[in-house]
Amino acid sequence: MVINFICWPSTKLAWILALLLNLVMMIQVHGQPPSSGFISIDCGLRNSSSYNDSTTGLRFDPDGRFVEGGMRKQMSQEFMANATNEQQTTLRSFPDGSRNCYTLPSTIGKKYLLRATFTYGNYDGLNKTRDGSLFLFGLHIGVNFWEAVNLTNTKPSTMVWKEVLTIAPSNFVSICLVNFNSGIPFISSLELRPLEDMMYPFFNTSVSISLHSRYRLGNIADYITRYPTDIYDRFWRRQPPLNPRRNLNTSNKVESLPGNNFFHIPSVIMQNALTSSMNSSGMIISPIPSPNLDTKSLQLLPIFHFAEINGSNPNRRFDIYSDGELLFSDFSPSRFQVDSMHQNGRFLRNPNASFILKKTANSTLQPLINAFELYSLVRMDNLTTDSEDVHYMKEVKKHYNLTRINWNGDPCSPREYSWEGLTCDYSKSNQNPRIVSVNLSATGLKGRLAISFMNMVSLENLDLSHNNLTGAIPDYQLKSLKIINLSNNQLVGPIPDSILRRFRAGLLDLRLEGNPICSKVKDMYCSNKKNTIQTMLIAVTVPVVLVSLLVLMCITWKLCWKGKSDHEDYAIYEEEASLHIDTKQFTYVELKLITNDFQSIIGKGGFGIVYHGTLENGDEVAVKVLMETSITESTDFLPEVQTLSKVHHKNLVTLKGYCQNKKCLALIYDFMSRGNLQQLIRGGDDYSLNWEQRLHIALDAAQGLEYLHESCTPSIVHRDVKTPNILLDKNLVGIISDFGLSRAFNDAHTHISTVAAGTLGYLDPEYHATFQLTVKTDVYSFGIVLLEIITGQPPVLMEPQTFHLPNWVRHKIAMGNIHDIVDKRLLDQYDAGSLQSVVDLAMNCVENAAIDRPTMTEVVSRLKELLPVVSSEKLSISASTSSMNPMDAEIRRQFQLTISGISNEENSFRSGYTGGMSELIPLSGR
Ligand SMILES: *[C@@H]1O[C@H](CO)[C@@H](O)[C@H](O)[C@H]1NC(C)=O
Ligand SMILES: *[C@@H]1O[C@H](CO)[C@@H](O)[C@H](O)[C@H]1NC(C)=O
Ligand SMILES: *[C@@H]1O[C@H](CO)[C@@H](O)[C@H](O)[C@H]1NC(C)=O
Ligand SMILES: *[C@@H]1O[C@H](CO)[C@@H](O)[C@H](O)[C@H]1NC(C)=O
Ligand SMILES: *[C@@H]1O[C@H](CO)[C@@H](O)[C@H](O)[C@H]1NC(C)=O
Ligand SMILES: *[C@@H]1O[C@H](CO)[C@@H](O)[C@H](O)[C@H]1NC(C)=O
Ligand SMILES: *[C@@H]1O[C@H](CO)[C@@H](O)[C@H](O)[C@H]1NC(C)=O
Repeated sequence: MVINFICWPSTKLAWILALLLNLVMMIQVHGQPPSSGFISIDCGLRNSSSYNDSTTGLRFDPDGRFVEGGMRKQMSQEFMANATNEQQTTLRSFPDGSRNCYTLPSTIGKKYLLRATFTYGNYDGLNKTRDGSLFLFGLHIGVNFWEAVNLTNTKPSTMVWKEVLTIAPSNFVSICLVNFNSGIPFISSLELRPLEDMMYPFFNTSVSISLHSRYRLGNIADYITRYPTDIYDRFWRRQPPLNPRRNLNTSNKVESLPGNNFFHIPSVIMQNALTSSMNSSGMIISPIPSPNLDTKSLQLLPIFHFAEINGSNPNRRFDIYSDGELLFSDFSPSRFQVDSMHQNGRFLRNPNASFILKKTANSTLQPLINAFELYSLVRMDNLTTDSEDVHYMKEVKKHYNLTRINWNGDPCSPREYSWEGLTCDYSKSNQNPRIVSVNLSATGLKGRLAISFMNMVSLENLDLSHNNLTGAIPDYQLKSLKIINLSNNQLVGPIPDSILRRFRAGLLDLRLEGNPICSKVKDMYCSNKKNTIQTMLIAVTVPVVLVSLLVLMCITWKLCWKGKSDHEDYAIYEEEASLHIDTKQFTYVELKLITNDFQSIIGKGGFGIVYHGTLENGDEVAVKVLMETSITESTDFLPEVQTLSKVHHKNLVTLKGYCQNKKCLALIYDFMSRGNLQQLIRGGDDYSLNWEQRLHIALDAAQGLEYLHESCTPSIVHRDVKTPNILLDKNLVGIISDFGLSRAFNDAHTHISTVAAGTLGYLDPEYHATFQLTVKTDVYSFGIVLLEIITGQPPVLMEPQTFHLPNWVRHKIAMGNIHDIVDKRLLDQYDAGSLQSVVDLAMNCVENAAIDRPTMTEVVSRLKELLPVVSSEKLSISASTSSMNPMDAEIRRQFQLTISGISNEENSFRSGYTGGMSELIPLSGR
């Protein structure tokens, strides 16, 4: 069957509409200066000597900051004078390592042309291209094989270039040179050129296209036409001599057919063409690929660019064949308009890469052609390592200044090039590989333990033995970690409770022998006989574990408030203390009564189960019970009791009491009938919050946090702000809960913590990097919450690729329209004016540097500005009306509760309130 994609300039209305739409998009897209976003790298250039290329005027930079390893080289003197351009005179060669990668910044999801050039120039004086042996190395684009560079038997001065059109898989693209043991890989230049989204609609995230050849035809002076003639800086090569030949040219402008935004061929290129002589019936196009490229195995994608540039009104019709297959029949080029003929992404087998243009019987003129492109298929099937794992491994690498030669490119993929010392899990074939084990034993590590390891949620085995690690052991909270070997380092104590607890429960194999800490802790932590410890553990009865746990947590907590002394630290495991909390204490029997024998479960988590209950006075409560089996996991219990018993605010959950005895550990707090924010945002289509409700809930949460940060002395950092921790009462007032990880600090703005925690997707990147826990950590997490509220998306999107929500938002906005990010369930019922401001505020909160983020006080005042004034007016009216419908009564009851809440706070804390109006807002009829 013949596929014909010619755009005849006469069709129906629908076509014209589509065309108008395209024009609109073109106008949007063309706003940028042409060379913006170009990255041009002259490999092997001395550092700090950028220059402007003499032919293109483009600025070329040295490659130092895009690559590790390799050696700077220069082509031999005899070829210098004849070099085709400045970039070819220097190069970088990679004698060490089987894979060496360049990493270039990019925008995720954007289309790019990426070009690498190679000129051997006998830089090593070994005549490698001419000594009869094979000179060959490979190129990878990301984790996928792109093409081989085969320089066997080429002239030393030959410039070979390879181009690939690809979509950036993340915020960087990597290009790797792979050693095939047939000569040392090298590279002369590397260029990254952004393309427009509409262009070349034949590749996607799983398919890239590699350039086989690209020609312009006619009588052309320059061997290569590129930028600035072509604003996308494609290399258009002059035709090889064709016999017999006749060149055509015109000075008339050749326009793109309206609606054809796929190629943007410069008019100048289309103004020249080649036609066959009068007595021949056609023309064979047989492009020369780069040297030694074997076309037989390739799947090819030809694109022919035609324009009739003969001034008269000619009858020129021809058929186009690929290796005997008729691709297009009876084609006639349009006058002074570009017709780009392609098979819409169908790849062809054509072992000789030859194409024939054949005059039809009743055509008066021979075929003509202006330009031609031929690409080959590059499969992008191999998956990159999970992006979080990549991020954290890179942090580790940076933290320890590791310059291991094969720690280059993707950590796990392709499998045969994975980083030394890592073990990856490839078992789920449709999921990104994950890192399960890191072995950096005896690698000369110095300094503190990197916190990044903690964030790798698949990591099971960490071996850092026989290094020079110093300082304390951070609180690695990871549930996945099974073996941690820290033996023979310079670590000092204490052993953090999370590790201790997992160790005691037999869930973690801890190795600490050969560290100074061993002189201060019990032998059991520093012997490597794991089995005896497990036996001991089994012998310990559950109540004893419980009591010692409480004691331990209590002291930890006290230390946080008082500051610590070394001596106390080591005493953690032996000393005893009791709980001092002025909140009502319940017994197990009372709890049973309240919860009607633990009948109604309203939530579950790592800590245990949350039950619904009713107090004697009829108040509904939620009872969070840490059952005996989960007591080893109950780190969060005591801090939560402590914090909750001290804070009172309408947007913070109220602790009604607790239970702490042999039988139970439990917290009792107000019941929130509308569940949590995550459930409401992503619960399904049956119920959706409107825009105004969303903003109100955001303001509620912000006010709760502001209170913790600004009105508590010392300040409290919540540390685990996320949508599941924002509860909603029956009036949809947002209430912050789950203070299990919160910490209080005397100086709210800088504090060094050895304890790290939080939830993936909400974690402050600066906190990972520096360990500095500040109130701005919560601001970051709040920014993520705000983005979830706007978009309805989870903090980490998994489909089709892993995306962190802020990046997804940036990406969407960059791709087009800010309105694309808004939760579809809002059905466009939102205030477009406030959208931009809320997005700005959210993005401001998730700035990488804490210092650039606003304080919660600023967040609160900015959110207040955005809320329509009407809602508070509406409220004032309803609150002052005395009609006794049940809803009003309900509002009044809530109102009274809130007022009494305020007086409570003023008794125990410095007041954080600025005025009455903010208090009224949550009571509006949402
Ligand atoms: C450089 O170019 C000149 C002129 O084209 C030529 O004669 C000479 O052989 C070339 N030198 C090398 C080393 O290729
Ligand atoms: C490389 O080739 C040049 C000229 O062909 C020759 O003079 C030189 O000796 C050769 N060098 C080596 C190392 O083979
Ligand atoms: C994908 O990875 C496998 C194994 O690591 C490798 O053999 C294969 O060549 C890779 N595929 C591509 C397209 O690069
Ligand atoms: C590389 O080129 C040489 C010379 O043309 C050829 O003999 C060899 O088969 C090629 N190797 C590959 C892998 O393409
Ligand atoms: C050329 O000939 C074909 C039949 O061979 C006919 O269908 C077509 O209409 C003719 N075209 C012109 C422009 O005369
Ligand atoms: C990192 O290592 C390199 C080479 O091993 C050394 O030159 C550099 O000073 C080191 N940097 C730091 C911060 O230790
Ligand atoms: C640790 O550092 C000390 C002094 O800086 C050095 O003597 C020792 O060899 C190092 N140990 C290891 C295992 O690198």
